[in-house]
Amino acid sequence: MNELDSLVESATQLFAQSATPADLENAKAQFLGKAGRVTELMKGMAQLSVDEKKSRGAAINVAKQAIEAALTARRQALADAELQIQLKAEALDVSLPGRQRGQGGLHPVSLTLERIEGIFGSMGFDVAQGPEIETDWFNFTALNTPEDHPARSMHDTFYVEGGTPEAPNLLRTHTSPMQIRHAVQHVKKHRAALDAGQPMPEIRVIAPGRTYRVDSDATHSPMFHQCEGLWVGENVSFKDLKVIFTAFCRTFFESDDLVLRFRPSFFPFTEPSAEIDIQFQTGPLAGRWLEVAGSGQVHPNVVRNMGLDPEKYIGFAFGMGPDRLTMLRYGVNDLRLFFDGDIRFLSQFQ
Ligand code: PHE
Repeated sequence: MNELDSLVESATQLFAQSATPADLENAKAQFLGKAGRVTELMKGMAQLSVDEKKSRGAAINVAKQAIEAALTARRQALADAELQIQLKAEALDVSLPGRQRGQGGLHPVSLTLERIEGIFGSMGFDVAQGPEIETDWFNFTALNTPEDHPARSMHDTFYVEGGTPEAPNLLRTHTSPMQIRHAVQHVKKHRAALDAGQPMPEIRVIAPGRTYRVDSDATHSPMFHQCEGLWVGENVSFKDLKVIFTAFCRTFFESDDLVLRFRPSFFPFTEPSAEIDIQFQTGPLAGRWLEVAGSGQVHPNVVRNMGLDPEKYIGFAFGMGPDRLTMLRYGVNDLRLFFDGDIRFLSQFQ
């Protein structure tokens, strides 16, 4: 191998050993730089004759081009390798499962409300909605609640600023104002028939929704749910209330041997009044009486405020707590869990 061939070979070797672009530029300088070996060879031609210069110069040029070609090839190889590393680093694994959007679902209390609506709906009850900001009239006065009743105090009721006797001025403390609102609408709709002495279709309605009281512990939340029930007709009795409420509870809890008891109580808007207790015969709660609703025969004053003659129309009403029904159904003992918004708790009910 002549001197020029071995020069090309050692350049090619050094380039191959250069692992980085910087190393490669250093290696290039050793051959092609100002003080590089190819440059030295060129300078060494000074003493040669013209003919010798021609052939020697051509040979050196061939070697120089070969070194340049090796350099270019190595530069390209290093750039390619760099690109591969970068591509690998930025690679996306398209086989990874995507991030899924949560499915979402109904809140356990909403599931209960749907259940209540479904069951009472199947027994011919309408579902009515009403405002959560109420007037003193609908929440208390129309419901025969005396001016000095403790429920009207600031300790019990959230009052809203700027209320006038006619304007909404409190957060409803129960769903009972819906008894008046719905009955008044119903009576208005059937006014002509009533005036003509024709019978009015019975009022059969439930009114679920949010209610508010100044109260907060493991079994009371300042915001809670109630579901009102109202049945008004010419021939309704406590027996009917007991029959439909028993059917409701047995269906709701999927427990055919569940029993009901009416325990005497007091509400200004019903007379007589009763708490409704239920008792399971099997399961973890068997044998205990559990209070699930307030109820009673609609007070004559309230029947009058509905626009009906209490001598002719008799009504039965109940108010139950869907939050409590949810706790009993699922065996949850702290009401606050429902309203903390912890997805780990809530997603268990889907
Ligand atoms: N509104 C009563 C309460 O909140 C419950 C109730 C409703 C009682 C209807 C009788 C009739 O406690």
